Amino acid sequence: MRSQPKPGILFTRDEIEVTVKSLAAEIKRDYQGRHPLLIGVLKGSFVFMADLIRLLDFPLEVEFIRLSSYGRAMESSGKIKVVQGLRAKVIGRDVLVIEDIVDTGLAISFLLDYLRKKKPASLKLCALTDKPSRRQVPVTIDYLGFTVPNKFIVGYGIDWDEKFRYLPDICTLEDE
Ligand code: PRP
Repeated sequence: MRSQPKPGILFTRDEIEVTVKSLAAEIKRDYQGRHPLLIGVLKGSFVFMADLIRLLDFPLEVEFIRLSSYGRAMESSGKIKVVQGLRAKVIGRDVLVIEDIVDTGLAISFLLDYLRKKKPASLKLCALTDKPSRRQVPVTIDYLGFTVPNKFIVGYGIDWDEKFRYLPDICTLEDE
């Protein structure tokens, strides 16, 4: 039987704090006065979103969307669908999608296409982490926190098999 992997710190909570502050400053510079709609992709983005919006002291709206999950698999099935939709109208809005990780890019490119069809005034992506070594489809990340190696990442909202979301640091998993 496969043993439970052990998390090792990749980015500390202090490094995350500095990075989230810097992302918030960029977003504030670009979106202040535009009443943007921030759409968090569940579940992985919830911790990042919570920290980020508390640094954005101007009027904005928060929404969440949930896509089909990897479930217990370490690999994406490649078949993405919306399993929990939006309540807010997207048409004419300045939309900023908040992701925890862009890996193959399949989930976010599906979501950006889905949102583009709803005719937002603008559509951009903020991702906490990017794993470019795994990309299968091109993705433009407008606001990026960290580039991560080709290892499984957990913590700060990101899970492995629904575990480790609670870790305050961003960690990689190593087999024991
Ligand atoms: C993760 C992550 C992204 C997606 C990235 O979600 O939050 O949405 O996978 O992978 P991709 O670039 O290869 O498509 P997951 O399905 O694990 O759900 P969760 O956020 O609920 O953990």
